[in-house]
Amino acid sequence: MADVSKIIQRRESTRVPFNPNLHVSEGSVKQILEAVRWAPTAHNMQNFEILVVDDKKTLEKIGRIKSHISEAFIRENYQQLSSSEEELLKKKVGILGTDFPADWRDPAKLEKAIRESVPRPLKERIRGSPLLLIVIYDSRKRAPASEGDVLGFISLGCVMENMWLMAQSLGISVHILSVFSGDVVEKEVKRVLRIPDYMKIAFAARLGYPASKPPTHLRVRREIEMFAHHNQFGNYVLG
Ligand SMILES: Cc1cc2nc3c(=O)[nH]c(=O)nc-3n(C[C@H](O)[C@H](O)[C@H](O)COP(=O)(O)O)c2cc1C
Repeated sequence: MADVSKIIQRRESTRVPFNPNLHVSEGSVKQILEAVRWAPTAHNMQNFEILVVDDKKTLEKIGRIKSHISEAFIRENYQQLSSSEEELLKKKVGILGTDFPADWRDPAKLEKAIRESVPRPLKERIRGSPLLLIVIYDSRKRAPASEGDVLGFISLGCVMENMWLMAQSLGISVHILSVFSGDVVEKEVKRVLRIPDYMKIAFAARLGYPASKPPTHLRVRREIEMFAHHNQFGNYVLG
C-alpha cells in the first residue's frame, strides 16, 4: 500500500531532453505493456492499440513532422499560467509560466506570439527520446450506450495512468505529448506508422532517461477538502 502511494506521488511529467543512447530495455517495455493490458476499460472493451516506436529511422521520420501551436492553445494556456511559484502555490491548479516562452506569458505580447507562431518539427518535442508509445483509440470498441464514447475516453485515461505508474516504478521518465492527436500531426504520424484511417491517435508518451538531472519543479495539487464532499455537495470532507 505504502509503495503504491509513493509511486503515485512520485510520478511526474519529465519535460527535459532524454538521452537517445539510454534505451528502455525490452523487459521494461514488456512490463509497461503488461500494466496497460490490465488497465480497466468500460465494459472491458479494451478500446486501444499501442504502437511501440523505438526504431531510430522511424523516430527521425516522426521528428521531421511539423506541428503548429494553435491560437486557442496559446490563449487558453495563458489563462492557466501562474507567473510565480507563490502564485501557483496559492492557486494549486495549472502550470508555472516559466515552463513556456516569455511572450506566451506576457499579455502585452500574446498577440505577437500568436502571429509569429510557426510550425516546429516534432523532434523538438521528442527531445532525444529513444522510445515513443503511441496510444491509439479504436472507436469501434465503444462500450454499450456510452454516449459520445465518454466512457471510452475515460478508459484511455486508465491506460495512460497504468503505463505511467509502471514506468515510474521502473525508474523510467515519461512525458505525455498530446500534440500527436492534433489533426495535422495525427494525419502525418498515421501515414508514417501505417495506422488505419478509422483509428485515432489518443496521445503519445515519450519515455527514457533524462540527458541531465531535471531541475526540481514545483508540483501543486488542491487539498482534499477542496474537492471531496461528504454526503452532500458542499459538505467538505475535512472542512
Ligand atoms: C490527458 C493528458 C494530456 C496531457 N498532455 C500533455 C502535453 O501535451 N504536454 C505536456 O507537457 N504535458 C501533458 N500532460 C501532463 C500534465 O500537464 C501533467 O500531468 C500535470 O501538469 C501535472 O503535472 P505532473 O504530471 O508533473 O504531476 C498531460 C496529462 C494528461 C492527463
